[in-house]
Amino acid sequence: MTPRALRAQPGVDPSNLWGNAREGRAVSTQLEQPARASSSPVAGNGASVRLEGVVHSHRDRHGSDVQALDGLSLLAGEGELLAVVGPSGCGKTTMLELICGLQAPDAGRVVSRPAALMPQRDLLLPWLSALDNAGLAVRIGGSSRQRARELAAPVFAQLGLDGFQRARPHELSGGMRQRVAFVRTLLAGKPVLCLDEPFGALDAITRQEMQVWLEQALSAAPRTVVLVTHDVEEAVLLADRVAVLSPRPGQVVAELTVTLPRPRSRTDAAVVTLRERALRVLGDVRRGTA
Ligand SMILES: Nc1ncnc2c1ncn2[C@@H]1O[C@H](COP(=O)(O)OP(=O)(O)OP(=O)(O)O)[C@@H](O)[C@H]1O
Ligand SMILES: [Mg+2]
Repeated sequence: MTPRALRAQPGVDPSNLWGNAREGRAVSTQLEQPARASSSPVAGNGASVRLEGVVHSHRDRHGSDVQALDGLSLLAGEGELLAVVGPSGCGKTTMLELICGLQAPDAGRVVSRPAALMPQRDLLLPWLSALDNAGLAVRIGGSSRQRARELAAPVFAQLGLDGFQRARPHELSGGMRQRVAFVRTLLAGKPVLCLDEPFGALDAITRQEMQVWLEQALSAAPRTVVLVTHDVEEAVLLADRVAVLSPRPGQVVAELTVTLPRPRSRTDAAVVTLRERALRVLGDVRRGTA
């Protein structure tokens, strides 16, 4: 979806992608709080994100309703990394858009501290350089171009993008575009990050490097993260909890708590065991036996 396509939808502001949503929309997500103004969670009982019995349908272009979510309930605690896995089309992206206030639920409740979305498709602006795309959320937040570049440059380099500051998005590989979008989301400075398949377009080695980098970045500057991934191993390596969704319309059918110490290794016996457990649950979900 392009920013223009987003703008064309009533009640949707594309700047929400980077957590700069306006108040006053018909969405129950709480918005526009200074990113670090308060450590007190808004969603209650230590939660940063709370979804209760959320129902949501999309209207397709023929005017028919496609029900994406049916009674989805989920909590992400303050500073928790919650991974969400589930079959393709089960409503994961829809769930993240609800948390970020890009969609409103048809029923149920969505309450979240201010959240920035890294969309599944990178939505980089083709006319801006890679560095200016990375700093876009900072610019939208009111800072000068110079300031946005100063903030984006170090992260840009850490993610292996050095030398491509001035490149336009069409000159970048898919994995590089994804990393630029990742920097843009991080620099939005919101307490909740919604990451939609953030490492999906990366080769295996770069993916592992990004996972390690994300873990270090979060330990240096803790945030609440809702991570949608198709990679169960990634979920077990990074998450405090893994929620498994049913096929569409999505709802949570299982939750696994991961208490293993960090950093975790994919070859650790406990990681392998948990990954197998999660894969079994996913298999049951697909077969409809969960
Ligand atoms: N804007 C839209 N208009 C109509 N239907 C939509 C729209 N967005 C999503 N859907 C439908 O809602 C359902 C859930 O979509 P969603 O993108 O949330 O799934 P997902 O779990 O993120 O899938 P994937 O893993 O493939 O990314 C799908 O059937 C999809 O076709
Ligand atoms: Mg999706």
